[in-house]
Amino acid sequence: MEPTTFVLFGATGDLAKRKIYPALYNLFVRGKLPSAFSVIGLGRREWTDETLRANVEQSLRRFSRTKPDDEAALGRFLRAFRYCVLDIGREADYQRLLKLVKEREAELGIPENRLFYLSVGPEHFGPIADNIRSSGLGSGRGWKRLVIEKPFGHDLASARELNRKLGESFAEHEIYRIDHYLGKPVVQRLEALGRHPAVRGLWTGRRPANVQIVADESVGVEERAGYYDKSGALRDMFQNHLLQLLMMTAVHLPGGGSGDVHQRKKRIMEALRPVTKETAAACIVRGQYAEGFIGGSPVVGYTAEPGIAPDSQTDTFIAARLEIDNDDWRGVPFYIRTGKRLREKSTRIVVEFGAPEGQPEHGSDLLVIEIGPNERVTLQRGVQFAGSAEGIEQVSVELDINGDNSPEAYENLIGDALAGDPTFFAHWDEVELSWRWVQPVLDAFAENRVPLHRYAAGGFGPAESDALPAKDGFRWWLDDRSDAKSDKSEGERYVCQSNG
Ligand SMILES: NC(=O)c1ccc[n+]([C@@H]2O[C@H](COP(=O)([O-])OP(=O)(O)OC[C@H]3O[C@@H](n4cnc5c(N)ncnc54)[C@H](OP(=O)(O)O)[C@@H]3O)[C@@H](O)[C@H]2O)c1
Repeated sequence: MEPTTFVLFGATGDLAKRKIYPALYNLFVRGKLPSAFSVIGLGRREWTDETLRANVEQSLRRFSRTKPDDEAALGRFLRAFRYCVLDIGREADYQRLLKLVKEREAELGIPENRLFYLSVGPEHFGPIADNIRSSGLGSGRGWKRLVIEKPFGHDLASARELNRKLGESFAEHEIYRIDHYLGKPVVQRLEALGRHPAVRGLWTGRRPANVQIVADESVGVEERAGYYDKSGALRDMFQNHLLQLLMMTAVHLPGGGSGDVHQRKKRIMEALRPVTKETAAACIVRGQYAEGFIGGSPVVGYTAEPGIAPDSQTDTFIAARLEIDNDDWRGVPFYIRTGKRLREKSTRIVVEFGAPEGQPEHGSDLLVIEIGPNERVTLQRGVQFAGSAEGIEQVSVELDINGDNSPEAYENLIGDALAGDPTFFAHWDEVELSWRWVQPVLDAFAENRVPLHRYAAGGFGPAESDALPAKDGFRWWLDDRSDAKSDKSEGERYVCQSNG
């Protein structure tokens, strides 16, 4: 990997502390950082190099999956860090930054390869990109990269404007848009899963009946009221994470086509049957949580949360029925569901195959891809609609995922950005097409064309969400609606070689 300077805007912030420093440290421990590496942390706080290093060390002790027990190695890691006071809006500060970056490049004898990581609010992305260009920071003799994280706009027009602005300073191939769902180990192995013989076998002679993509959360709005109330589930989860999971599922499971992954994802979004604001209510369910119980404890409704207006119409739940109009997926509904204050946290993809022809007693076969909190893939054969677990054959499709100690999403993604591998980042085409699909739904919400259903905290969302697959003769799988968890036995294990 080429020697690099990692310029971190927002080095004093929460994301840096929780995710970025631990990710860098674990890459270092695994030998996946460039041999010569310089980190320049930035913020308005009057920190010194020593304050930054002390904060980094503290963050590793608290949040890193590998604890920094080896003092010598920790010392080598921390020596790479320098701090520079910088106010994003003050041009002169970028000259001081440029001077420091160059001094360190000279000291380490490294080329002018610069990765700018923007761990700051999205309102700062445009001004930072401008200042990187005008200060000369972006015109070194090496490569430059810009790493940013959602939100990429709050609607189609603002996303386009942000992209236009960034495009004045960075080319598309230099922009790495993080969607941390794409860094999750199971999602990174979907391609390998699609090649697995047991999975390919499912597709032999038949097609899925439907696909379900679920990202349930049991938490409420927490400390994010100010941001969340202007965003809602459609913008916060659906437009980015869930549509990315849809694209990844559609391109990597068998029959997903060939060619460059970004082109294939783009083709999926182009084939996604559009909705209009007039038709949105037929395929979208919008909800907001009311009071209820989570894990036996009472919780307040959304509008009683601190910082939320009592008459807020913000969606905390979205369910949707989508169709992909291409040869691989035509006629296979994709049901998507996400919401806050649901029964339990679960992120999963379930692909349902109906009973083989002429054998209705066999029940459905399910490919269950659990992304979080568990990471595993299972085949469940012969699952009855409402029947007992008797007769179900359950097979784990084992991927090379190292349980609790697998790399975190940020570790995978920062490693890829340093290596210049864009595979697991969101290309602008995907972001724009996602906003294009979502915009009429936002318009329909604004005109109140889609009813806002209140649902009790601790359940599975409004009844209207259950009706969405039910209208097609399906139901949401794996919702454990009983109080006792079902006791399913583990079946035979197959090993799937992954890309590592
Ligand atoms: N925290 C998470 O887990 C998380 C997860 C996903 C995405 N994000 C996104 O990541 C971004 C950062 O989140 P965060 O939680 O780290 O926020 P935060 O704790 O509020 O930190 C914000 C950072 O921005 C810096 N900053 C703000 N205004 C600045 C200015 N004018 N000049 C220079 N630096 C400035 C702050 O430094 P000073 O105060 O020292 O100036 C601080 O380091 C946000 O867009 C957030 O949505 C966060």
